[in-house]
This record gives sequence, structure tokens and C-alpha cells, in this order.
Amino acid sequence: MAGVIPIGFAGAAYIFTRVRVGVLTAGGDCPGLNAVIRAVTRKCLNGRHEVVGLRRGYLGLAERNYFPLDMRSVSGILPLGGTIVSTSSFDPFREPEGVERVSAAVEEDGFDAIVAIGGEHTMSITRRLWEENRLPVVGVPKTIDNDVPCTDFTFGFDTAVQIATDAIDRLHTTAQSHDRVMVIEVMGRNTGWIAVFSGIAGGADAILIPELELTVEDTCKAINTRHERGKDFSIVVVAEGAELAFASGEKRQVRASQETDQYGYPRLGGIGQALGTEIEARTGFETRVTTLGHVQRGGTPTATDRVLATRYGIQAAELVEEQRFGEMTALHGQEMTSVPLSEVQGLKPVDLGYLRLASTFFG
Ligand code: F6P
Repeated sequence: MAGVIPIGFAGAAYIFTRVRVGVLTAGGDCPGLNAVIRAVTRKCLNGRHEVVGLRRGYLGLAERNYFPLDMRSVSGILPLGGTIVSTSSFDPFREPEGVERVSAAVEEDGFDAIVAIGGEHTMSITRRLWEENRLPVVGVPKTIDNDVPCTDFTFGFDTAVQIATDAIDRLHTTAQSHDRVMVIEVMGRNTGWIAVFSGIAGGADAILIPELELTVEDTCKAINTRHERGKDFSIVVVAEGAELAFASGEKRQVRASQETDQYGYPRLGGIGQALGTEIEARTGFETRVTTLGHVQRGGTPTATDRVLATRYGIQAAELVEEQRFGEMTALHGQEMTSVPLSEVQGLKPVDLGYLRLASTFFG
């Protein structure tokens, strides 16, 4: 491996090698990224390894835009949202000479390991860099959406759920005062994890997610049923990726714009308003819509996310020390473990058991 420096010797065997580790964050940010960066750095520094921050995801490697991560640079970042190494959606497989530039940087600048912290798309880039180019990569899954497969929970998710739950709690009191229906649109892209968890925690009266169709008619029926039994307000949580579906079979995905993001994903958003308009027209109840948007991704991580992110970071550093490249850190139950990146493909849909549980309280 490039840059490996033996620095200890015991009898016939080296007992220690100093390695150079690059750390990057790619894709959308989420609370807890800095906690992972801190954990990887501190664990590696404890092992007397060198740690380097790669600015703006894989672009940092392609452009050789690095800076040292030392005790001082990771001091005080545990509670900080965002990422001190910045992020971007740069995909070396989609850029001219992208893979060649990234590979050359790893080889010529003596990186022995790259820790890539990102979502499902970043994991697929990282998997290909391992499988097709044998770059020494380790993946760490992140996203507020909790949609990365092969791991039970990603850090950032708990914070997003807490923010959405706080919002639902606040909407409850004002909904009650005015006899209104409140529709709250949450993020989650093509999965409904945030909607289901915040809906359960906030006591939603209906939850709409991409994984299971709930028609406008069914939603209105749940609201009417509540009102018939004396309730004069309702809370409806809708995931941005849920389709606006009707009993007639007509359905459509509502998008914020027709443009796609850098990864080619549609820009979602607007289902809340579309659903709110339908609910008001069909039930006659005054309806208001709140779209939480990026507030779910910003700010300080919850204690749960700080602990989880720290565990992910320590596990990543251990994978590096054990040279277990081509793996992704993963949470299985209470255990922090790892899985081959080759298994990390597609999206992890919501466990519908949670929605069944939530539906006990609908109507
Ligand atoms: O994947 C995280 C996420 O916040 C999604 O929930 C959302 O659809 C998307 O990113 C928004 O992306 P952008 O920050 O590019 O608007």
C-alpha cells in the first residue's frame, strides 16, 4: 500500500503501521456528519495515523483539495450541524476523467484509506471504486431519510424526526384553537421513514407515504370520522415522495420543479399543498399546510444521533486499521457491525409494521 510507514517492531513482526486516511462527506448534509468526522479522526490519531479532510466529497480527491484533520480541527464540532469538510454531489463516474483523477490522487498522494460518508448514491460510487478500481475505501451511511439498505438506522434520521415531531406538537395546539386540519409535509425522498416516525410520535390522524397508497378519499374519510365523533381538528403528515392518489386510480407525484438534482433525482415537494387543497374542497374543513423543508436537515444533532454517529465513526476507523476495505459500517439491532458494499444496493423502504401501528390511531 502506498504510504505505509512501519514505526514499531516486536521480535520478527511489525506491530504498528502508520497510515494516511482521507475523510470525505458527499451528497446532502445531515446532522451528525461532524460527529463522525471527529470520531474517525480521534480514533485514527490515537493510533498515530495521519488524517486528511477531503473537501466537497469526491471532488476533493479529483481536485486534490485537502487539509489536515488534527486534534484542534475536530475540537468542538461534536454538536455542530453541517460538515466541516463540506459536501458536494460530485460523481467521478459521471465526470470526464473523474475516476482516473480520483485514483491518481489516492495513489500519488499516498492515501492508504478513504472513509466516504454519504447516502445511498455515495455508497454506490464507493462500491464501484472498490469493485472496479480496488481503491481502499470504507463507507459510512448517512441520511435523514433512513433509506440506506443493510443498516437499521442512519444518523441524522433521529434529529429530523425530532424536528418534525416538535413541529407537529406545535401545530396541534393551533389546530385545536381554530378547528382546522393541519397538513405537514416532511422530507424523506422516496421513502416515508420520517413521516411514519414523526407521525407516530406526534399522534397524526393520517400519514401518507410513498410505500403504501392512501387515497385522497380515504384521507378525507379518516378526517370526517374524527369530526363525527366530536373531534374538530386533524393532523395529516405527508411524505414529500407520496403520490397524490384518487379512488378513480388517477395518481401523480408532485414535484417542486421539473429539474432533477445532480444525481438525476427529481426535486420533490408540493404534495402537502396539493393534498391540503383537496381536503378543504372535499371536507369543507379549513385546512392549512406547513412544509418543513431543509429545517429538518440543519442544526445540532440529537444526543441519540451524536452517539450513533460516534459509533459509526469509530467502527469506520477500526475497519481502516483492519484493512477491511469495500465494507460499509452498519447498525444491526444494538450492534455496530459492517457489511460488504456489494450488498448495499437500492433503497430501504419503511417497515409497514410501523404504519399499521400508526393506523390504530387514524380516524
Ligand atoms: O436526502 C436528503 C434530502 O433532504 C431529502 O429528504 C430531500 O428530498 C432532498 O435531500 C433535498 O435535496 P436538496 O438539498 O438538493 O434540495
